[in-house]
Amino acid sequence: MLHWQVVKRLIIAIDGPSGAGKGTLAHAVARRLEYRHVDTGAMYRAVAWKALQDGVGLDDEPAVAALASAAAFAQEDGVIRIDGHDVTRAIRTPDMDKAAARVAKLPGVRAILVERQRALAQDGGVVMEGRDIGTVVFPAADVKVYLDASPDERARRRAGDTAHSGGQQGTVAVVATDLIERDRTDSTRAVAPLTMAPDAVYVDTTGIPIDDVVERVMALVKERVVGSR
Ligand code: DC
Repeated sequence: MLHWQVVKRLIIAIDGPSGAGKGTLAHAVARRLEYRHVDTGAMYRAVAWKALQDGVGLDDEPAVAALASAAAFAQEDGVIRIDGHDVTRAIRTPDMDKAAARVAKLPGVRAILVERQRALAQDGGVVMEGRDIGTVVFPAADVKVYLDASPDERARRRAGDTAHSGGQQGTVAVVATDLIERDRTDSTRAVAPLTMAPDAVYVDTTGIPIDDVVERVMALVKERVVGSR
């Protein structure tokens, strides 16, 4: 570990639309810094999964919020658990994409999950990815990145990602239609829509190797630590 990395344990917020590469980036940066990686989208997905399991309507706001409040979440080494169930694969299907976007629209559910996300970063040392991390969850995050890529590139990445299509490769055209629709839902919802924080750094990953994006963000982190001493 480099000496500047131990000075202060930062909160790093990574927001952006689906398929921009947030997960890969957040994982790599967390690994480099020995920080915790929190995928907040997985929390919305896990809540939707549990609601479906328990026969709770996805639009039943008080019931879904109660479930989100009572659930035990765990994320470790890429494995996502809710109440002890390993849902890593189950939550990454096209149906769960839609179900998660529905529960993410509910203000009562967001309020609970935002509170739980803040609690996960009490001591800093977190790379948190989502849609509202730099705007709502941590408006004072030390580093804010808004990750983007062209819609074509995002659809291509998602279509080739079998972990994200229930084990089957989706066609780019179908994935693109779903992705555009979901971006529209995420960006136009009343509560915490996907927007870029005014103080976030915009990073377009179209055609850029992930390693270069990681280096760019590591440079921002270093600048933040060294510059604040
Ligand atoms: O990042 P993802 O595709 O796994 O997110 C799943 C859904 O949850 C998606 O509709 C966006 C939503 N979401 C959100 O509203 N706020 C977050 N912080 C993270 C995800």
